[in-house]
Amino acid sequence: MKTESMNSAGFIRTGPASDEIKNLFSSIASKYDLANDIITFGMARRWRRNLVRWSSEGLSAIQRVLDCATGTGDIAFEFARTFQNAEVIGCDFCEPMLKVASNKITRKFTDAAEHIRFELADTMSLPYRDAQFDVSSIAYGIRNVKDVPQALAEMARVTRPGGYVMILETGVVENRFLRAFVHLHFQAVVPFLGGLISGRQSAYQYLQKSSSEFPSGDTFCDVLRSVNRFSKVEYRPLLGGASYIYRAQVR
Ligand SMILES: C[S@@+](CC[C@H](N)C(=O)[O-])C[C@H]1O[C@@H](n2cnc3c(N)ncnc32)[C@H](O)[C@@H]1O
Repeated sequence: MKTESMNSAGFIRTGPASDEIKNLFSSIASKYDLANDIITFGMARRWRRNLVRWSSEGLSAIQRVLDCATGTGDIAFEFARTFQNAEVIGCDFCEPMLKVASNKITRKFTDAAEHIRFELADTMSLPYRDAQFDVSSIAYGIRNVKDVPQALAEMARVTRPGGYVMILETGVVENRFLRAFVHLHFQAVVPFLGGLISGRQSAYQYLQKSSSEFPSGDTFCDVLRSVNRFSKVEYRPLLGGASYIYRAQVR
């Protein structure tokens, strides 16, 4: 698979086509959760919880939530667990990932069955009406979409004015010692372990490469501002910048 790079406009990927991304996630869907837990030492779970918690600060009520690029649904389930009266939709364009998510409703999250559902949808062209959701989110998905500003604009469109677009994505660690450790982890350990667990080392090489090239912190906030749909953009670094949560309030 070709490596990812950004074009001169900044944030339209010139790397793998959407179909290649779908195939990549289809090929690792059944092992995705296990590999993720091992590779991140379970920290990604805590960071998803942080995203959900932060999304509720400043909003009086959360009744409808959309989790884009939901994959196996962990953010969607976290929203459903936290806001038990909310209707939660998780959407993704990769059917095998959604199948794993849907199976979890019957296996693990029966309590959520009444108010969570999963739907096939491309984040760059969401099949939802304007201003329907209090919060829309995307975790470790925005760096995989072909046109990042278009996906962000779509998320802003379906979120009501005053609501939040929440993003969790990998970043660059500020401290150079920690950065060297994290770099080594992603460069060597992630492809090795990911490959061992899923049988698809190339998929984890792509995931490592795409995260090392994606803008983070203030640079990603500039991308958010360029969409011209947000009144306020903030971020919180996690583990010194290994990942970031961004919160953008829709105008
Ligand atoms: C690394 S996984 C993240 C899954 C989940 N959000 C999580 O936190 O574990 C990336 C997901 O993004 C999805 N994806 C990538 N581009 C997409 C697009 N344009 N529209 C919808 N889903 C997309 C992939 O199918 C995959 O399930």
